Amino acid sequence: MPGRVILDTDTGVDDALAILLAMRSPELRIEAITGVCGNTPLEHCMRNIHITLDVLDAAPPPEVARGEDRPLVRELAFAGDIHGNDGLGDVTRLEDAKGARVYPDPVQRVSPVHAVDLILERIERYPDELILVAVGPLTNVARAIMRDADRMRRLREIIIMGGAFETGGNVSPVAEFNIHADPHAAQIVCDAGIPLVFVPLDATRQAFLDAKTIDRYAGKGGARAAFVRDCTARYVAFHRRNRGVNGCFLHDPLAVAVAVREDLVTTVPARVDVEIAGDLTTGMTVADLRSQRWGEPNARVCTALDVQAFTRLFEERVLA
Ligand code: BDR
Ligand code: CA
Repeated sequence: MPGRVILDTDTGVDDALAILLAMRSPELRIEAITGVCGNTPLEHCMRNIHITLDVLDAAPPPEVARGEDRPLVRELAFAGDIHGNDGLGDVTRLEDAKGARVYPDPVQRVSPVHAVDLILERIERYPDELILVAVGPLTNVARAIMRDADRMRRLREIIIMGGAFETGGNVSPVAEFNIHADPHAAQIVCDAGIPLVFVPLDATRQAFLDAKTIDRYAGKGGARAAFVRDCTARYVAFHRRNRGVNGCFLHDPLAVAVAVREDLVTTVPARVDVEIAGDLTTGMTVADLRSQRWGEPNARVCTALDVQAFTRLFEERVLA
């Protein structure tokens, strides 16, 4: 039976690719997609979730719920330079030869239930079964813990795309975006006693999608591959400029892939905490991956990836 999953996302470009991979993975049953602010304002996230689902034309589509529109404590800070003004590589401005918008405003089917309530309700329905895959700032997750920590401990696990342990950060020398955007929420999650799997930059920087591969599949004319080409164009340009690579990292799809096949990654147990006080180090994830001396482990941290197997999985399910 497919594993029941809620995908919590601040739908930017790689989040959209994560939605595609999740929805195209028969091992997973996507119970709901919940939006949270992060890469882009919440309203954009909600629109981008629907644009992505419309590309798939999935019947029936999963429940979609609106979550938190600001971090617990920190000021809002978006990532428009990476994900575009619309959060989706500016595909919403893209026009065809006749001047019609290629990705017009979608009809939104947003649940009347708030994301936090929906998460808690689904755990009650499927105790010890549900996996939460969180690929944005952890604000919704922390709010759910603040509301009912006992219920949240009945999650099977939370797979978190976030953190940077033995590699540098991407918003500061030491901090990764999702954790940095709401470090207080991340520390609440670390302290909650829920089984956690961190999929940090250490692993996701090994999950690389080559621009030539995107073009090769898009050239075949399929709607999914064309969408991947359209929404990643700006994201790839950012990577070219800032990282000197011709392609992009698949941060959020890797977190979904771990829910599909955990054997794709190597994990080590560790006690993970988040710096919430430092001026220079806010949002840094702190753990000693060499040993367990730094407290009782509260998480497993992905350190290495079977690059070939992951790439094959992503290409077959999302691009082909
Ligand atoms: C994470 O930050 C966001 O910009 C991406 O969507 C991903 O979830 C990578 O640091
Ligand atoms: Ca994300």
